[in-house]
Formats: sequence, structure tokens, C-alpha cells
Amino acid sequence: MTARIYLIGFMGSGKSTYGKSIARMMDYAFIDMDDWIESRAGMRIPDIFSQHGEDRFRELETEAIAELSKTERTVIATGGGAPCFGNNMEIMKESGLTVYLKLSPEALVHRLKGARDERPLLARKTEKEMLETIRELLARREPYYNQADMIIDGLERVTERVVNAIQRRSK
Ligand code: S3P
Repeated sequence: MTARIYLIGFMGSGKSTYGKSIARMMDYAFIDMDDWIESRAGMRIPDIFSQHGEDRFRELETEAIAELSKTERTVIATGGGAPCFGNNMEIMKESGLTVYLKLSPEALVHRLKGARDERPLLARKTEKEMLETIRELLARREPYYNQADMIIDGLERVTERVVNAIQRRSK
């Protein structure tokens, strides 16, 4: 069985929620990369973006992946941009199993409209602007997300389907 499972995908795709239940079902530890970065930096992500800029946040993300790629029996929920910078996706693929939770831009807007202010890339946008931003970002990010070892429809029975697929692969 793989030592680490990286859940990747856009903001709002359920990486943290499903990550916890996947970890529970597999008896793995669970780490949310955004929380891990916040506790290391002693700062909330919106403050890292506003005080130090997105580039600094991306550096912290790359450092986090380098550290988290040494964990054992761990499900890691990554930030939505993490696979798309530097050689992060390569490191994740080399050190574990990558699973893309795929959702349409419309489904993502629906999920994100109540939580946009916690996400610096969507803060203060109308729903129409969110849809445009999500479409643009997804078009740029999907070439990375699509390199995942598994692509799972993020709408239905996600936990069971991810766990079954991982167990089938390891047989
Ligand atoms: C980001 C996604 C966020 C967080 C940061 C940037 C992105 O994580 O890392 O706000 O670039 O898509 P979630 O995907 O957990 O919301």
C-alpha cells in the first residue's frame, strides 16, 4: 500500500472533508497542507498573501511538500494551486499516489460562494466573476491536475470510490 495519498484539485473540491474520511477508512493519518503551512508560518493564509505576496506562499507550499513527502501512512489534502508550481506535482507523484477530485466550474461556484473570503484568489468577487476566474484558473491548472494517478468525479460517493480504487491498485 502506498505510504502517502495526495488529494489534489480546485479550491472547494472537498479535499479536506473527503481526506479525513478516506484517512479514517484506511487507518491513515490526515494532514491538511494549508493548516500545516499556517501553523508553521504562524499566520493565516490570507495574511501571508496580503503581507508577503502569492510568490512567498508558493515557496512555503513547496517547502511543505518537501517535508510532507517524508510522512508515512498519511492522506494529505493539498492546496488548490500546489500541483501547478515548480516541480511539486513531480515530487508528489514520485512519493505517493495522487488523486484528482474533479468538479465542474459551476459545481465549484456553488460550493465556494459561502467561503470565498477565506480564499484570497476569490475574495470579494461576485458569483459571475467567480465563475469566470474558476474557468480561467481551471484551464491553466487542469494540465497539472490531469497528471494525477487517479481522477475521481468529486460529486458522488467520493470516499468509497477513492478507497476502493486504492485497494484495487495495491492488489
Ligand atoms: C489556493 C487554494 C487554497 C489555498 C490558497 C491558494 C489556490 O487551498 O492554498 O488560498 O491557489 O487554489 P484550498 O484548495 O484548500 O482552498
